Amino acid sequence: LARGGLDGDLTGRHVVVSAGGTREPIDPVRFIGNRSSGLQGYALARTAVARGARVTLVAANVALPDPAGVDLVPVGSAEEMRKAVLEAADGADAVVMAAAVADFRPADYRGSKIKKASGAEPEPIRLTKNADILAELGQRRGTGQVIVGFAAETDDVLANGREKLARKGCDLLVVNQVGESLTFGQADNAATILATEGDPTVVPRGAKEALADVVWDLVAARLK
Ligand code: CTP
Ligand code: CA
Repeated sequence: LARGGLDGDLTGRHVVVSAGGTREPIDPVRFIGNRSSGLQGYALARTAVARGARVTLVAANVALPDPAGVDLVPVGSAEEMRKAVLEAADGADAVVMAAAVADFRPADYRGSKIKKASGAEPEPIRLTKNADILAELGQRRGTGQVIVGFAAETDDVLANGREKLARKGCDLLVVNQVGESLTFGQADNAATILATEGDPTVVPRGAKEALADVVWDLVAARLK
């Protein structure tokens, strides 16, 4: 695959990228979180800028320097990410959901810090489902808009990926195999990109930028 970085093939396009991991507050000092460094999302944002795109980067809880030339929208929780992504996606050419979005949040937010009462066992934390942002994007997409999801799987990687691609109604799904030492916080990544039509694209282990460029190659081909 050609590296598209120099030919400005996304010039005049607006793309939205989500990155990082959402945090769902339990009380003012605690949260339920997702493991994601934001590195893959930031690599997607940087490479899109290099290819000429206007980039909105919706970033949840990352500890990374702001990439040059992007509109950065910092968010905390899944619901904040949902609002920011749906707003930015309105009229965008492509949306790439690289963020790890919490599937559940505590059902009852406690406005004051939960204390460990002496001797007592802790109360269980009841959870409720968060909205699925990617599925919503798939349902409400504008004409010609390209929607890309990511999936981290530990088992039956491709079968789960196929099912997820169909269920979410996205055009492309980037599937990573994850494990204790794979992917999270690492500079490189390997993936298989599933598409609604055509063969999967296998991306060998390499820099997250290289994977990002393959994603933009596939997006640019669908925008033509
Ligand atoms: N995603 C989302 N909103 C959610 C959960 C996930 O937009 N509430 C997006 C992620 O950003 C990712 C894709 O959906 O691009 C797949 O996320 P994943 O967690 O693999 O899929 P789920 O449908 O949540 O399935 P599960 O966690 O049960 O495997
Ligand atoms: Ca999930």
